[in-house]
Order: sequence, then structure tokens, then C-alpha cells
Amino acid sequence: VIPIHRKPLAKYGGRHTVTVLPGDGIGPEMMAHLKRIFTFAHVPVDFEVLDIGSRDLSDSALDNAIIAIERNGVALKGNIETKFDDPQFKSRNMELRRRLDLFANILHCKTVPTIPVRHKEIDIVLIRENTEGEYSGIEHQSVKGVVESIKVVTRQKIEQIATLAFDFALANNRKKITAIHKANIQKLGDGLFLKVCREMAETKYKDVKFEHMIVDNASMQLVSRPEQFNGGILLMPNLYGNIISNIACGLVGGPGLVSGMNLGKKYAVFETGTRNTGTSIAGKDVANPTAFIQAAIDMLRYVDEPLHADRLTTALYNTLIVKKIHTADIGGTAKTSEIIEGVIDELKQIFDKEHVH
Ligand code: NAI
Repeated sequence: VIPIHRKPLAKYGGRHTVTVLPGDGIGPEMMAHLKRIFTFAHVPVDFEVLDIGSRDLSDSALDNAIIAIERNGVALKGNIETKFDDPQFKSRNMELRRRLDLFANILHCKTVPTIPVRHKEIDIVLIRENTEGEYSGIEHQSVKGVVESIKVVTRQKIEQIATLAFDFALANNRKKITAIHKANIQKLGDGLFLKVCREMAETKYKDVKFEHMIVDNASMQLVSRPEQFNGGILLMPNLYGNIISNIACGLVGGPGLVSGMNLGKKYAVFETGTRNTGTSIAGKDVANPTAFIQAAIDMLRYVDEPLHADRLTTALYNTLIVKKIHTADIGGTAKTSEIIEGVIDELKQIFDKEHVH
């Protein structure tokens, strides 16, 4: 159950318009594959494609993308390269999340049968504050050789993300919330995060079990005994959330598998769980398209198209697990296009069974 559900804004003649931001690296080819799948499956979604990848890093390109998402309410997104060497340049990915107030990032990391991993049976939901903390973007060099990077946290944003996490736990029957922090060192900032989460657990959400863990220990526990978090939720501030999410994605098979939802009160952007671009494998027909297909499925659930989401889930499941068509990142030899053909083939069979022609 997606915690914030909103009727899509742009729906004409029963069709949704969704903003598509292909981004860099493998993003554009993945969006083309999704378009093909949607067309084949008669998914009632039209793509409004805008380029805010590194081909156009102008402010107007970013403004147009934001206006389009505000108009449509929903976006599918590839990741955008971020320049490291220009302090004035703000990450496009981060600017989108900040300006649209997409305050929650949600990932579900679950092991998939037939995909080789070190730990069997992982099932962890990760909920990350997505707009403040270390990502506030306030940095300056006060005197030469002295840099201040300011982490800003607010009670309002912590309450917002914690409320979403506890509501998510109740709606999805997740039995435990573990708040991740470094309150032993960041006594005020992370202290506030822990205090607010704890208060909420003790007052409003007594039925959900609550624990907390220091981020370094949590990283170690995740790689050594991840099953202790199964069935629960990791609730995290922004930067720790980023790092821990990548560890969790790695545990279940890597960047090609897990999707990530960015939710706000008004808008939602669906992308991959890890936010790298895959530039080195772009154009080679080798990337694993699963995370993008899963992001599209999340988006279909958000816009209230459960039938299409279910069909695509079954087609993907049969391709990956029943037929074991795997790309190289998960130990197989299949090309991206073979997975897409596999999914389309499965959709064909689903339609035949349903007698839809
Ligand atoms: P990368 O994009 O090079 O990917 C890391 C590894 O995962 C590579 O070996 C790549 O081949 C593999 N990989 C990625 N997607 C895959 C897929 N779908 N199927 C199979 N293998 C896949 O990672 P890196 O260096 O972290 O990021 C590249 C660029 O992305 C950076 O320049 C950065 O600007 C941008 N970026 C990265 C973020 C991050 O969280 N890592 C966040 C925002 C932007």
C-alpha cells in the first residue's frame, strides 16, 4: 500500500499523462523499453518526455521539468549525472526533490528467488527523509582551508517522515521500526531525530514496535545479520538513508533490481532505488531493466491502475524467476532486450488467458 495516494492530476479520456525524465546513462534506453511495454500492454499512460539530463543543464530545463510534474502530478525518472567539480552546480536530482517537496524516499529490498545473493530471505523496507539534513546544500569556505557544510534538520520534517513511516507500518503490517541515527555524536541534530521518532512511538503508535540503532552499527548489522530487520522498516535521515539504502540494494542483488518511490503531499516521482546512472554500460544492451520496470509498476499503483500493475508484475516475475532470464549483473548472460522480449511474451500469454485481443 503506497502511503500517500493521490488522484492523478492529468487524466484525459481515461488516460494519464506522466512526465518522463530519461536522464543520463542507461535512463533513455530504459524509458524507451518501458514505452514499448506500455504500448504493447495497452497501459493508459501517455509519456510527456523532458530532457534534464547532462545534455541540457540549464535552469530553464529544470524549471520546465518541475512545471510539467506539477501539471501531471507524477513522473518516471532516470538518474542525472552530477558534476563534482563545480560548487555552484546543484544536483538536478536533489533540486527536483527539494522543489517538489518529495520528502519521503521509500525502497523495498527483498530477495528474489533465483537471484544469487549471500543472505537468503531479506525483506526490509527503507524510509528516508529526502529533502533536508546534509542535503540542505549550505556550504561555504569561511577562510581559505576552512569549509563549513551545514546540516539543517527541522522538527516539522522529522515528524512528517516519522508519521509516514508509522502509518506505512500499520497499513502494510510491518512489525517494527528501527530509527537509524548518530545521536551519540550529532547530539542536537540526530538527537532531535531520535527524540521525535521515540515520542511518536510512545504516544501515537504504541502498536508498532520501536527500536533505534547507531548508523555505523546498523551498517555492520545489515551486512552481517540482515535478517534481524526482516518484516520491519528502517527509518532514516537523509544521508544515512542514502548509504544504508545502497547497502540494502546491494544485499538483494544490486542497482538493477530495486525501485525507489519519492513521495510528497502533492507529487510523486518514481525511479530506481540506487541513484547512479550506469553510464559505463549505456548503449550496450546489458543493463538490468528490472528496477525501471519495478518503478513503472509502483507508478501504476500510485495512479490507481492495479490491473495493469498486476499484469506487469506477473510478466516480470515469470521472466526473472520462472524462466530465469538474467542479465550479467545477477549472474546471467541475457541482454536487456531479451528481458524486455521475455516480459512482452509473458504479457501476450496473460492477455491470451484473459481473452483480451
Ligand atoms: P554507476 O552508474 O557507474 O553504477 C555503479 C555500478 O553499477 C556500475 O558497475 C554499473 O555498471 C552498475 N549498474 C548500474 N545500473 C545497473 C543496471 N541497471 N544493471 C546492471 N548494472 C548496473 O555508479 P556511480 O559511479 O555511483 O554513479 C555514476 C553517476 O551517477 C555519478 O557521476 C553521479 O553523478 C550520478 N549519481 C549517482 C548517485 C549515487 O547514489 N551513486 C546519486 C546521484 C547521481
